[in-house]
Amino acid sequence: MMETKRLQYTTEDMETAAALLRSGALVAFPTETVYGLGADARREESVRSIFSAKGRPADNPLIVHIADMDMLQGIVTYIPEIARKLADAFWPGPLTMVLPKAESIPAVTSGGLDTVGVRMPSHPAALALIRMSGCPIAAPSANRSGSPSPTTAKHVLDDMDGRIAAVIDGGQCDVGVESTVICFDDDETIHILRPGLISAEDLEPFAAHVYVDEAVYQQIAADAKVASPGMKYRHYAPHAKIIPVDAPDFAAFAAFVNAQKTDDTYCLLFDSDPEIAGIPCMRYGDNGREQAHYLFLRFRELDEVHAGTVYVRIPDKNGTALSVYNRLMRAAGFEVITL
Ligand code: TXA
Ligand code: MG
Repeated sequence: MMETKRLQYTTEDMETAAALLRSGALVAFPTETVYGLGADARREESVRSIFSAKGRPADNPLIVHIADMDMLQGIVTYIPEIARKLADAFWPGPLTMVLPKAESIPAVTSGGLDTVGVRMPSHPAALALIRMSGCPIAAPSANRSGSPSPTTAKHVLDDMDGRIAAVIDGGQCDVGVESTVICFDDDETIHILRPGLISAEDLEPFAAHVYVDEAVYQQIAADAKVASPGMKYRHYAPHAKIIPVDAPDFAAFAAFVNAQKTDDTYCLLFDSDPEIAGIPCMRYGDNGREQAHYLFLRFRELDEVHAGTVYVRIPDKNGTALSVYNRLMRAAGFEVITL
């Protein structure tokens, strides 16, 4: 164990963070999506220590974070025209593109794949850290493997205190779910591996075909070969049992929960839903943007109150809401109660 430094987004603290990264240490930092756990993407030993700090399976590749297009040139062998257009439109921002990996990125960073996921984050502290360190930063979400991604520095410390050199406190993340991850099946086809704030609808103007991977909607066998290894692991889950309930209306949902309830039953509802008498309820918004912002926060709060079972209202699958649907289903192991 080590002492984890608490840093702020000030010039002095950012210099400390940049020096730590250059020395090979792990630094957690805010991005617009969730907090990342960063190391110099080119240093094998440092990247290996990310996997051990998180308890992450070694075949799950990391995203490399860059601050400008020159940095991209150094870590991929080829940038297709469609990727350039998407970079123009969405970077800096919550879009990760899987591209052919250059030699400078070791296999441990890419989980042994010959591709690398790259994104240019928009959070000023993330961009400053990349620029000041001069490192492309490999960073998964800064949670222990399997836990909900952290959206505050406190959440990072709850999971990582004593395991990493420092965390930069940038307040609450804006988006709240991880970036949209895409790859290109060909020059005209965008394949969404993980949905995020940037939706299929947002990407449609840029390609003849845009489609969402099957693993976004359903459980993938642990031994299956998938386009994105991260999708096969159970993820994002609080300790409480998460049970999404597909009900024809709110009255049916409330009646079902009332019939099932025990001492540690909670509900996770939309903001516009009424109360359910006698059952403690948390809320996570009324649309995809709001639900993305609050989902992981609520998961962690449910653990703080020692919720045992949580019945959850299911978001729709359109636009940004698909990212929320996907995280919720994965937290539930894709088991839904349909009334
Ligand atoms: O918003 C985000 O993306 C956050 C912040 C910190 O940037 N990062 C993040 O990283 O969510 P992580 O490691 O928790 O998720 C990375 C996802 C995994 O599902 C992984 O399988 C996929 O991206 N991925 C990374 N590189 C890939 C590659 N070369 N091919 C296919 N999938 C890849
Ligand atoms: Mg993660």
